[in-house]
Amino acid sequence: MNVLITGGSRGIGRAMVQRLAAGGHNVAFTYANNEQAAQETIAQVAAACPERTVKAYLLDVKKTEQVESVIGTIIDEFEEIQAVVNNAAVVKNNAAVLMSNEEWDEVIATNLTGPFYVIRTLLMHFISNRKGKIINISSLAQTGCSGQVNYAASKAGLIGMTQTLAKEYGAKGITANVVTVGYVPTDMTKDNLVDSLHKFWLQHCPIKKVGSAEDIANLANFLISEEANFINGEVIRVSGGLTYAP
Ligand SMILES: NC(=O)c1ccc[n+]([C@@H]2O[C@H](COP(=O)([O-])OP(=O)(O)OC[C@H]3O[C@@H](n4cnc5c(N)ncnc54)[C@H](OP(=O)(O)O)[C@@H]3O)[C@@H](O)[C@H]2O)c1
Repeated sequence: MNVLITGGSRGIGRAMVQRLAAGGHNVAFTYANNEQAAQETIAQVAAACPERTVKAYLLDVKKTEQVESVIGTIIDEFEEIQAVVNNAAVVKNNAAVLMSNEEWDEVIATNLTGPFYVIRTLLMHFISNRKGKIINISSLAQTGCSGQVNYAASKAGLIGMTQTLAKEYGAKGITANVVTVGYVPTDMTKDNLVDSLHKFWLQHCPIKKVGSAEDIANLANFLISEEANFINGEVIRVSGGLTYAP
């Protein structure tokens, strides 16, 4: 299978590129700025899975023309894309009362509007092939998280979007599901969340462990497989059993 993953240069996205390549898939992945990290992802996969095709594309998912042109190039180069993982996201944390328009707009545009642009661009391709798997990466924050009113809204919005797609396109061979991530130490959490989150997690998570990027990548690998063909419109939490954010 050929898979598109947004935000594959670092963190959970990189682990998904690696896992899906190891699972026998070819991967087109995007990055926003970090060319060096994107090249490292490619080098790691080339060493581990030399028989796989893995390519990186510069793309800001907020920009609709870029989304259309880069996905057009990807389809030309890979001929067919059968699955997409909308993983790219940002955080701009602030108390709601202090949040600027820029902080709100940047997070909604990247985390919610971007995945919509990506999916809309791919839908005709999926419909004409009568095959497509859509996976949208959400967060436990979607039920509310202090300091993340913009991020929580974007991640909750993804669920409504996904469940609508599941209904509109299920009959056309396309499934859409959400993966709700718990806490995985990455650049995103390192830069923006405080030590207290780590302590909160270890105290409240039933299995007393933080997640790994590979935990999320393993589920993505299953959801794009034929074994997951009857799973559609689901919200699947990968959080060691914790159901809420602080
Ligand atoms: N880590 C967690 O604990 C956690 C918890 C819940 C949910 N999640 C979700 O899991 C996903 C991955 O998170 P992560 O922790 O791996 O994040 P990360 O380490 O910060 O990586 C973010 C990725 O998104 C890309 N990106 C950022 N802005 C973009 C844009 N405008 N257009 C295209 N790509 C863009 C980055 O590219 P560059 O490298 O070029 O900047 C990078 O590849 C996100 O959807 C996040 O919300 C994570």
